[in-house]
Amino acid sequence: MTHTNLYILGIESSCDDTAAAVIHNGKILSNVVASQEIHAQYGGVVPELASRAHQQNIVPVVHQALHGANIDKNQLSAIAFTRGPGLMGSLLVGTSFSKSLALALDIPLIDVDHMQAHILAHFIDEEGKTPPAFPFLAMTISGGHTQIVKVTDYFEMEVIGQTIDDAVGEAFDKSAKILGLPYPGGPLIDKYAQEGNPKRFKFPKPKVNPMDFSFSGLKTAVLYFVEKETKENPNFIEENIADICASLQKTIVDYLMDKLKNAVKKTGIKEIAIGGGVSANSGIRKALKDAESKYGWKTHIPKFEYCTDNAAMIAIVGELKYRQGLFTSSEVTASARLKY
Ligand code: KG4
Ligand code: ZN
Repeated sequence: MTHTNLYILGIESSCDDTAAAVIHNGKILSNVVASQEIHAQYGGVVPELASRAHQQNIVPVVHQALHGANIDKNQLSAIAFTRGPGLMGSLLVGTSFSKSLALALDIPLIDVDHMQAHILAHFIDEEGKTPPAFPFLAMTISGGHTQIVKVTDYFEMEVIGQTIDDAVGEAFDKSAKILGLPYPGGPLIDKYAQEGNPKRFKFPKPKVNPMDFSFSGLKTAVLYFVEKETKENPNFIEENIADICASLQKTIVDYLMDKLKNAVKKTGIKEIAIGGGVSANSGIRKALKDAESKYGWKTHIPKFEYCTDNAAMIAIVGELKYRQGLFTSSEVTASARLKY
């Protein structure tokens, strides 16, 4: 069965971004994200506040996505939503909203795994971009996850390496917090790093299995380093912020690249894609581009707005599942620890 004229609404509410997008035959017509500013003052996401903000945002965000796509809700073919993993209270808002809307419009409901969506975002139809060819390796690097996944088909994925403690985004955010930067600190470390000397300071790279990751030691190392240096010079951070950020970013990027190299060696697969919020990082983007000529890899880096949490990636999974007839019962419940 071929479906030529699909309009799918994607809804994402797993963490602190309320997002909605409309996809039409692989092309994104609208992609709306309401980020929740409220968490910055607490230095991290407060789950209770997140779910309340989702409740306030979801109707206007969906409305804006439909308006931006220039379609009426009655034209929708299906609703795709993030079922998990994520914060339970946040997931529940998107899940119950999607279930009700699908029921009201009498159209299919499609559940989406957030981490699969970060990977499948590469299949959004974009001018001048070729999607990854199967099999490929996907490194998903976000605030909640750090994994290397072997992808043999759209929905055939195997996790071959992962973090044993913190996610890489947490390593960025927690280090940034120690440096007195507001949440989320990842983009700020990236910004300061552009002006700094990456070779000035040395941070440790934790030793674990070749394709696994560990980041909790790095955060402790940053803490001790900052404590020691500020004892000698109370202005140490302000005077050296660019060099600290550049050195820290280099350590993390080199570590991620080491893990990818190990995975390529183990699997023989040189088709590489990245996804998740940390793939917005300029250091990892450059390292991957360089790997094309250096190691003969074919690399896929998502467009900026498809890196951090968004609903376009949920919508593309919705379309891929629709075309395979993979629908969800209206009995479906949110799952904070969903695993594929
Ligand atoms: O995928 P995402 O939006 O949400 C999760 O599912 O976790 O990822 C958010 C994470 C945060 O830790 C944020 O600091 C990090 O992505 N991030 C970055 C950059 N932009 C976002 N980390 C480093 N450099 C960036 N440019
Ligand atoms: Zn994410």
